[in-house]
Amino acid sequence: MAKDLPDAGKPPATLAGIEKAIHECRRCPIGFLENQAVMGEGLKKSALMVVGEQPGEQEDLAGKPFVGPSGQLLDRYLVEAGIDRRQVYVTNAVKHFKFVWRGKRRLHQSPTGKEIDICRFWLDGELAIVQPKIVLALGGSAARGVLGKSVTISKTRGHPLPQEHGPEVWVTAHPSYLLRLKDEMKEQQERLFRADLAAVAERLGELAE
Ligand code: URA
Repeated sequence: MAKDLPDAGKPPATLAGIEKAIHECRRCPIGFLENQAVMGEGLKKSALMVVGEQPGEQEDLAGKPFVGPSGQLLDRYLVEAGIDRRQVYVTNAVKHFKFVWRGKRRLHQSPTGKEIDICRFWLDGELAIVQPKIVLALGGSAARGVLGKSVTISKTRGHPLPQEHGPEVWVTAHPSYLLRLKDEMKEQQERLFRADLAAVAERLGELAE
């Protein structure tokens, strides 16, 4: 753990323990907002862990990851790649929804690098329990949470990133990015996203052999 991060020893050794602890987590300012922690979801042992940035408005209300528009898009692409979401452990780099009030609406705010680094404590706990063969990080915040450093998605996608130990890490765009695009750029990025998921599916098959 880096020197300037709160040191709370080790995360709990069970997913239920982590879930309870994240609800009480005030290690960074996001935990003090009007939100609820959203725990990862899926099999306790999964070959694939998919990591997003943070819960959005809908996930915060439902208490489940990736149930809103980004999640529905992710589900579609997982199906296309032949990956069954029920076999995947889906979680986020940051466990609480960061937002600012705009009138009565809560507007998404990206977490800072430091907030992601602080929340990595919980992600590491989930990784130690789920022990995936592959971690797929969706977007820059997720990549930072998984890798502990910032990377450029366009330079790191499409192949596994070498790790000294632990699961293979793959990086791709965040589905919310695809939702914001239009026309040619949208088509191009959708193709890349589809290809990334297909490559992960193929690699999962190889690792299962
Ligand atoms: N975006 C994320 O990164 N995670 C979610 O759970 C939902 C939207």
